[in-house]
Amino acid sequence: MKPVHIPVERYLSDEFAAREQAQMWPKVWQLACSVDHVAEPGDWYEHVVGNLSVLVVRGDDGELRAFQNVCRHRGSSICTGSGGGLAELRCPYHGWTWDLDGRLREVPSRRVFGVDNESYGLFPARVDTWGPLVFVDLALDGPSLAEFLAPVPDDCAWAHLDEFRCTAQATVKARCNWKTLIEGFSETYHVQGIHREMLTMADDVRGPQEIWGWHGKLQQSYGLASPRVRDVSDAQVWAGFIEVMGTRIGIPTETSPADAPAPAVPQGATMRSVIADRLRNHASTVGHDYSALDDGQVLDMSQYNLFPNVSVLVFSDMVAAVRARPGSNTGTAYMDIFNCERIPQRDAANPATARTRPLDVELPPGAESYLGLVLSQDVGNFERAQRGLHQPGLEYLSVSPTEECRVVNLHRNLERVLGITPSELTGLDQFVAAFPNVSG
Ligand code: FES
Repeated sequence: MKPVHIPVERYLSDEFAAREQAQMWPKVWQLACSVDHVAEPGDWYEHVVGNLSVLVVRGDDGELRAFQNVCRHRGSSICTGSGGGLAELRCPYHGWTWDLDGRLREVPSRRVFGVDNESYGLFPARVDTWGPLVFVDLALDGPSLAEFLAPVPDDCAWAHLDEFRCTAQATVKARCNWKTLIEGFSETYHVQGIHREMLTMADDVRGPQEIWGWHGKLQQSYGLASPRVRDVSDAQVWAGFIEVMGTRIGIPTETSPADAPAPAVPQGATMRSVIADRLRNHASTVGHDYSALDDGQVLDMSQYNLFPNVSVLVFSDMVAAVRARPGSNTGTAYMDIFNCERIPQRDAANPATARTRPLDVELPPGAESYLGLVLSQDVGNFERAQRGLHQPGLEYLSVSPTEECRVVNLHRNLERVLGITPSELTGLDQFVAAFPNVSG
């Protein structure tokens, strides 16, 4: 087996970033916000990616719509940020105004322009949802969101993503290229490097991976030790689980092992099955019934890498979407984390249960610890990973076609949308041979 070589200039070159800006971002489905950000008539959310801005708006009629954020007069942006209570979309520059469905309503001194309402609507974008996530596409043609995401939604249908609601969104400015950022959420080879606390409680080696055309998946198991470490006791597995994700079973992660001693493992059971039962019991106290889910569904993570810039982590009890957006230059990016929780069945069945606006925060530098142990370690790695790319001895990255297949797939698909032929990636034949559904 030989590595796939990825040209390093893809992370550094202004010209490559300009191609992404012109040829990719306006033409792909991309995660914009959560349904909870735009749940009520008059709610809006501005999705910014590079120099593109898309407004997601809930209309008076309850319909979700998206528009290019540009005034038809002289091109000003119309809205920034997000919020609620809009009755109209009014350009702050000279006051041209549209209904929430994008139809022109009002033009100050209209008689000196001669514009009619029908011809000067806002430019629409496509919008659709998957579970609690809202996606937009500036291109009005091409596959539907369902066609684009397939087969990912079917693959995790057991998790019922419609039952999840976004409770918080955190944004972190990162000193790396957006691809460097999302690639950190596209392989688990780095667990033994920067997340060593996970080695006693996660299998970072044997998790199966899949590639389906645009997207990829990893299935990672918890509640057991990595094959990289030996002679790990049940107590160590338990302590590792508490440290990394104890809140899933109702134990704060900062709890000392003395205050949360490992439970006994009954005859015929394993520490993994004991932890899975603990999670089922904890979930039942907050209104969730996971009795029909097997231990793998209860405990493990399905990580879906959606082209181009999103990693969706699906667990039985939580969903998190990590998104990378380009910053003001090739060495900066934004990491956005959408945290979603399953609402209890009794609330899901009650239409009167209102959605609440997620808590949106932009974390200042140095505040990454609020993201928890593992994510803060990921953030701490971004700048180091990017700085090395500038060294003149490095012309290409050497990436495993199997272990790091989801990184390879990002670049393979970048080449598809940017029209890079012939491929600049060496060794793709081994990647293609390893994943039979690669062209799906
Ligand atoms: Fe919007 Fe003039 S640019 S009203």
